[in-house]
Amino acid sequence: MAILLTGGAGYIGSHTCIELTKEGYDVIIVDDFSNSSPKVMERVKEITGKDIPLYRADVADKEALSRIFAENDIETVIHFAGFKAVGESCRLPVKYYRNNIDSTLTLLEVMAEYGVHNIVFSSSATVYGVPKKVPLTEDMDTGCTNPYGWTKLMIEQILRDTATADKEFSAVLLRYFNPIGAHESGRIGELPNGIPNNLMPYITQVAVGKLKQLSVFGNDYPTHDGTGVRDFIHVVDLAKGHVAAVKYVASNKGAEVFNLGTGIGNSVLVIVKAFKDANGIEIPYVIAERRSGDVAECYADPKKAFEGLGWKAEKNLTDMCKDSWRWQSSNPDGY
Ligand code: UFG
Repeated sequence: MAILLTGGAGYIGSHTCIELTKEGYDVIIVDDFSNSSPKVMERVKEITGKDIPLYRADVADKEALSRIFAENDIETVIHFAGFKAVGESCRLPVKYYRNNIDSTLTLLEVMAEYGVHNIVFSSSATVYGVPKKVPLTEDMDTGCTNPYGWTKLMIEQILRDTATADKEFSAVLLRYFNPIGAHESGRIGELPNGIPNNLMPYITQVAVGKLKQLSVFGNDYPTHDGTGVRDFIHVVDLAKGHVAAVKYVASNKGAEVFNLGTGIGNSVLVIVKAFKDANGIEIPYVIAERRSGDVAECYADPKKAFEGLGWKAEKNLTDMCKDSWRWQSSNPDGY
């Protein structure tokens, strides 16, 4: 019995592949490499000592996907594949709806044809929209500020409806907060396309000399230092959350949602300082305008994941900053 990872060569998928392999699971990956490098799999092999079966295909390609299910004994799917750039989704909404929704529907059709009932889905804290209060609990109101976020919320609904219709179906919807860091080997990590949108890849590219300075988007938010507050979580902790979710879907039915966060909010300037303290590198920055669509504060209440999945984040900000830097500094141009 194997676990199929759609988008398994990506940032979170590749780290999850390692954690699952460590726990003795057989893993299969399907990825079209539209936002990842085939070289990731060589690095995963270095780390795990295992050749992970890999299919190069688009999840929306039903024939190709069916072949994967026909050739393997798949027990559970972790569905990472999807476009994920917030800004691009505002410019090209149809592209995002077409890709993210279509691939999920195709996946669900093929799963049903092959009698596969278990799925773990990559959702996002972005589905909370503008939080009315923090920390965020799973029962709070949802609503999005961009098409990318809506695709996540729509897919959550599709999975809930599927679980209502099919009593054998089991879905875990994981709402990720802000994953940063990298595998401690420094061999795999996040590789953004072009200029990074997200804070930590931007910081590490300033540190390595590829970018001049960080723009801090707004210092007039109602937070302790005026800059945005987020729940940064180490990607290896996040990956371990998927292992816990795989165990959960194997013994529960229905659809359940869990936050994957640390429960701790840290501001942009706190991250800049933590990076300096961890790595001895000062990050030059300027204060810039607020970025449209950003919220002041977003952090998780992680209690439900602890109670339901037996999972909690263990790594601290120093680990996150050190591991992000080890990855960036030893791979300045990526893979
Ligand atoms: N920030 C800067 N300068 C930068 C980049 C980011 O100041 O160059 C600030 C942002 O304004 C924000 C914080 O750093 O206050 C975090 O920003 P990120 O872009 O790293 O992360 P977001 O919280 O905006 O978005 C992330 C993911 C989304 C996901 C969302 C869920 O990128 O995919 O979390 O809340 F939807």
